[in-house]
Amino acid sequence: MSEKKSFHMSPEEFRKYGRAVVDWIADYYENIESFPVLSRAEPGQLRASLPSQPPVHGEAFEAILKDVNTLILPGITHWQSPNFFAFFPANASCPAILGELLSAGLGVQGMLWATSPACTELETHVLDWMADMIGLPGKFKSDSAGGGVIQDSASGAALCALLAARERATGYESNRVGCTGRLVVYTSSQTHSSVEKGVKVAGFGSDNLRVIEVDEKFALRPDVLASQIRKDRDAGLIPCFVCATVGTTSSNAIDPVAEIGRLCKQEGLWLHVDAAMSGTAAICPEYRHIHEGLEFADSYCFNPHKWMFTNFDCDCFFVADRAALIKTLSILPEYLKNKATESGAVIDYRDWHIPLGRRFRSLKLWFVIRHYGVEGLRRHVRQHVELAQNFVKWVQADERFELAAPAPLNLVCFRHKAGDAFNQKLVEKLNQSGKLYLTHTLLKNQYIIRFCIAQTYTEERHVREAWRQIQETADALEKS
Ligand SMILES: Cc1ncc(COP(=O)(O)O)c(C=O)c1O
Repeated sequence: MSEKKSFHMSPEEFRKYGRAVVDWIADYYENIESFPVLSRAEPGQLRASLPSQPPVHGEAFEAILKDVNTLILPGITHWQSPNFFAFFPANASCPAILGELLSAGLGVQGMLWATSPACTELETHVLDWMADMIGLPGKFKSDSAGGGVIQDSASGAALCALLAARERATGYESNRVGCTGRLVVYTSSQTHSSVEKGVKVAGFGSDNLRVIEVDEKFALRPDVLASQIRKDRDAGLIPCFVCATVGTTSSNAIDPVAEIGRLCKQEGLWLHVDAAMSGTAAICPEYRHIHEGLEFADSYCFNPHKWMFTNFDCDCFFVADRAALIKTLSILPEYLKNKATESGAVIDYRDWHIPLGRRFRSLKLWFVIRHYGVEGLRRHVRQHVELAQNFVKWVQADERFELAAPAPLNLVCFRHKAGDAFNQKLVEKLNQSGKLYLTHTLLKNQYIIRFCIAQTYTEERHVREAWRQIQETADALEKS
């Protein structure tokens, strides 16, 4: 074959530009507070600045990186800003970013143990570490009947839990014959919408989703759950699945997992516990009580990509009976057969989630845990909770404001007493300022401001300044 020009980036160029990108990220983190937290881009702004056709001739890397600054950055909402207090965070850290880079560099696809043994074994090992770090019962570890797996998201984890529950409840028949339309799923009115989506995708049918009332603290009421289960049985339906939440998205409410769990055991329902953000708090022994009752759970998930300094995506999903999950999701076409799988001595994670292919996500989690150590993780999580608890006191000390829900950990829900329109304006003005970003929810039909402290680099000075901004903006609005 005649020698032809290669279009690949050479190792030398990769070294040079790789360093430039790492420098770019380091500069970004150093200067992140100078950007407006919420992007001010107009709809269509980025697309209007991009050529309509892709380049025929490759371009210099310098030109591409320059466009990141001029075109991409204005369209970025800075999730990694220490002044990001919106939603639940998707936080990251430098060790996680380096782990992600290495994962991309290795570029392995770990669908089977054989396609990269280290990818599978590191995942199993790190998830066993994680189970110990957040105080999960031993049944969720790989040396028991259960085990953990990294999923893309808490939504994916909920879907897998729903599918395994559906199969278990139908003697593993619904995969073959389809869903009967008689299986019932229970959530609270505060459960994350991903469970409702999962109910639709898994074929339960949204008519079979029961939304159970919550109490004054926005936690699921086990007494209402019990009576709904009875009603459904009386109607000839098959109660199948309950999702309890440790740290709801709206207000961080913590469902009474133990009470719900006992009921699920008595009634033979699958209990999934969604601790997407708040599970991280259990790294600290003083907050581990949030996991009381997990001995009754069939599955559990939390997202290190929310509050454990591990960049998106990384959800840790644990099941008490891995056989139920594997039996639900396993398919083995000829082209995937191999000796290691046949030996039964290895885990093939392809059977533990929806996609076949899988990235080497445990690498970044391993980097984070090894870099910070349990001690370092506790130090920063603890600080976030302390900052939130101080914020609670500041809200209580200003008679114009009131708390809208208990703040058990790092999310504070509050409002100005002047009503919904005022609070809405307050949030708009604060976000327009670019100095911070926060979002809202509805609780008891009132517009509530959410203030979540979980960004990796948020310190006391950021929270103090945010509260000063909130008070000052409220002053200005009161006068206008
Ligand atoms: C309690 C809870 N569960 C599930 C999710 C969905 O998370 P993911 O984006 O990982 O699917 C969220 C997202 O914020 C959440 O707050």
